[in-house]
Amino acid sequence: MAEELIRLKDLVKIYDTGAIKVLGLKRINLTINRGEFVAIMGKSGSGKSTLMNILGCLDRPSMGHYYLDGVDVASMTPNELSEIRNKKIGFVFQSFNLISRTSALKNVELPMTYAKVGKKARRERALKLLDRVGLLVRAEHMPNELSGGQRQRVAIARALANEPPLILADEPTGNLDTAASEEIMGLFADLHQEGATVVVVTHEENIAEFTDRIIRFQDGLVISDTRKGEKDHAV
Ligand SMILES: Nc1ncnc2c1ncn2[C@@H]1O[C@H](COP(=O)(O)OP(=O)(O)OP(=O)(O)O)[C@@H](O)[C@H]1O
Ligand SMILES: [Mg+2]
Repeated sequence: MAEELIRLKDLVKIYDTGAIKVLGLKRINLTINRGEFVAIMGKSGSGKSTLMNILGCLDRPSMGHYYLDGVDVASMTPNELSEIRNKKIGFVFQSFNLISRTSALKNVELPMTYAKVGKKARRERALKLLDRVGLLVRAEHMPNELSGGQRQRVAIARALANEPPLILADEPTGNLDTAASEEIMGLFADLHQEGATVVVVTHEENIAEFTDRIIRFQDGLVISDTRKGEKDHAV
């Protein structure tokens, strides 16, 4: 039987901006199993990034629960949360937030520094990861010497540094052309094949085709949830 990794129960996110309250997510009930490759789709403002930030433990739900590996994230201490973020979750942002004044190699090493991996092991693994994303020859280059697609590949290598079992990516191909996007989705597909659980936000139907399951959002709600080979069904 499929093993549950993520469970959202009656999850609500309200942004309190002072003047008004915005409902980012209305009432989400969702389960993602270990080893799934999921695309999150929906119009701008439908709640995709809100969801990803909660899944990545970068933000907390206002109401309801987020169980990760059976543990309610709300019950975790700040230290436990940062350890989870660093070791269990690889987060890839749309705007490949690399540190601009340091090389591709050092950017990839950074999460391992936080995880207290020794210098030699860190370097070896960072080089291996850069090789994997096809950028070994660019290891010493600064982010501004790389193209958008190359920077995004460095960001992915960095997200993989501590071998996280859960990979979350919020529009990782948003700034890229079709060839570069497909290359990056191919990389996620490989990681999925190797056993990782991968959740990717995308606007592009052809990119979503790489995944096993498409969950569509509208106005802070899940409106459909389809696994490959199944008929689309409304929620
Ligand atoms: N920090 C915030 N403060 C107030 N409102 C917010 C905040 N972040 C998001 N929102 C609101 O929550 C709703 C969902 O936003 P979210 O960023 O999750 O959308 P999205 O689906 O990721 O859109 P896009 O495709 O444009 O990235 C929107 O109405 C947005 O204005
Ligand atoms: Mg977004």
